[in-house]
Amino acid sequence: MRRHRETATTRDLFAESGIDVNRLIMPVFVEEGLKGTRPINSMPGISRYGLDVLPEYLLSLQDAGIRAVLLFGIPLKKDAEGSSAYAEDGIVQNAIRIASSKTGMLVIPDLCMCEYTQSGHCGILDGSMVDNDRTVDVYGRIAVSYAKSGAKMVAPSGMMDGQVRAIREALDKNGFRNVSIMAYSAKYASTLYSPFREAADSTPSFGDRRSYQMDPRNAREAMTEMELDIKEGADMIMVKPALFYLDVLAKARARFDIPIAAYSVSAEYSMIMNAVNAGLVQPEVINEAITSIFRAGADSVITYFAERIARQESGN
Ligand code: PBG
Ligand code: ZN
Repeated sequence: MRRHRETATTRDLFAESGIDVNRLIMPVFVEEGLKGTRPINSMPGISRYGLDVLPEYLLSLQDAGIRAVLLFGIPLKKDAEGSSAYAEDGIVQNAIRIASSKTGMLVIPDLCMCEYTQSGHCGILDGSMVDNDRTVDVYGRIAVSYAKSGAKMVAPSGMMDGQVRAIREALDKNGFRNVSIMAYSAKYASTLYSPFREAADSTPSFGDRRSYQMDPRNAREAMTEMELDIKEGADMIMVKPALFYLDVLAKARARFDIPIAAYSVSAEYSMIMNAVNAGLVQPEVINEAITSIFRAGADSVITYFAERIARQESGN
């Protein structure tokens, strides 16, 4: 076995998997009304961007080799209906228009309501529960408004039942048959989202998300979620988080032939960055972590390390 490990050339020749920058998706936060950038304390090295500096930032990512970004908006106004999420000149709608006119990037808006509702929950409340069916109707409306702004793909992350079907139908009915859906299919109710909630200002004001996101104890149930999303018309399914859920990813890879994304979430990023910054582990840990997600079977990986990895590989 050691013969093929002898030189870098043979190691590379025999490598079964690896990081492909073409398959990395960088999450980007855009804040309404912000001028310039604002660092996110919970995520060292990650910032929110104002629309004034967004083109410049996206072009620099593009120069480094990043082809796709996942867009999150932080609106000025929140209400019970999450109406800023489908406003014609909402923050995400404006960002999509700017990004598609000034860059060649694939801009994928995350489609949820938690940044837009006063409650911080992912949909419209009925008492203390999120009303599933009223919420998926709003998701359809948000999807259409993103498509009208120029989005070619949307990524519903709310974990409502039937959300993919509702979005597919709304898109088709409005003439957007060519807009595709990257479905957050197996999204767990994870503690690993807490740095993100500071980044996106989307912490629930009461309770938690366990009545819609998956129980971390379940892997077979994830297969059902993915199967449903495929039947409802998902073009790509997703496992989220990634590193603690590689078993789920590998199981999904063995079972489904459609493209699978894995989302390495905010705390995966922050825990590793803090360990690197503290000198506890070498920076190469970043490559090892992201490689493990590709090795487990992901076709593409959403990671806050995308920018850093791309810059390192390209020297840009
Ligand atoms: C919104 C959403 C969340 C993340 C992506 N989309 C937060 C949540 O569900 O609370 C988490 C991403 C991350 O932690 O990096 N539904
Ligand atoms: Zn949400």
